[in-house]
Amino acid sequence: MGDKEVLRVFNTRAQTRAYYDRISKVYDLLAEHSEGPVRRKGLELLALQANERVLEIGCGTGHCVVDCAQSGAAAVYAADISLGMLEQTRHALRKAGAAATLLCADAAALPLTSGFADALFMSFTLELFDTPEIPRVLAECRRVLKPSGRVVIVGMSKEGGPDILVEGYEWAHLHFPNFVDCRPIHVAQTLADAGFTITQKEIVHMWLPVEVVAARVER
Ligand SMILES: C[S@@+](CC[C@H](N)C(=O)[O-])C[C@H]1O[C@@H](n2cnc3c(N)ncnc32)[C@H](O)[C@@H]1O
Repeated sequence: MGDKEVLRVFNTRAQTRAYYDRISKVYDLLAEHSEGPVRRKGLELLALQANERVLEIGCGTGHCVVDCAQSGAAAVYAADISLGMLEQTRHALRKAGAAATLLCADAAALPLTSGFADALFMSFTLELFDTPEIPRVLAECRRVLKPSGRVVIVGMSKEGGPDILVEGYEWAHLHFPNFVDCRPIHVAQTLADAGFTITQKEIVHMWLPVEVVAARVER
């Protein structure tokens, strides 16, 4: 496996939805400890303003939806393909006394008008899409963002040279794709290739490298 070679993902939407429905109640037990701090770093980079409308794609159990709603943003929207995950988000919002509009939707075809959002956030979700699909998802992100819009994406990264943990993760994805459903990608590079202007990029070492990338729309 060369450093630059990004693995393919062959799960169908139905498999992805079923997988996240199945693990929605235990997702936080599996991921929150490691991923939580990195996601929060992403929200710091997004630096939401009070008059802004923000959209999170692949909101999972809703931690960032709650954080966005409590940040004072004017309106918070969150999309996920899994009803099980959206139910967890609904529960988290209720518990926090916060409000957001939840959409059961596919990131590649969002039921939102063009130029809808000031800011967009996505964490540990872009790397779930197969390589040819990533540009389509990012084109959809551009479509729903305002011309002045910005995005922060947090994703497992293949940047930084050979890494034994990255290689181990890729091995697990190749051999158990139904369980390890994603793989590290080049986050900033795919954003730049999709026409975004990168404004900030950090590599955070979770137990494998994670890119936290801020970018703005270039039209
Ligand atoms: C690995 S989880 C990450 C969840 C959350 N962003 C976090 O950081 O904890 C990926 C999320 O993306 C959602 N997802 C997967 N494919 C999707 C798609 N095509 N459209 C929208 N959401 C999708 C899953 O249901 C799941 O909630």
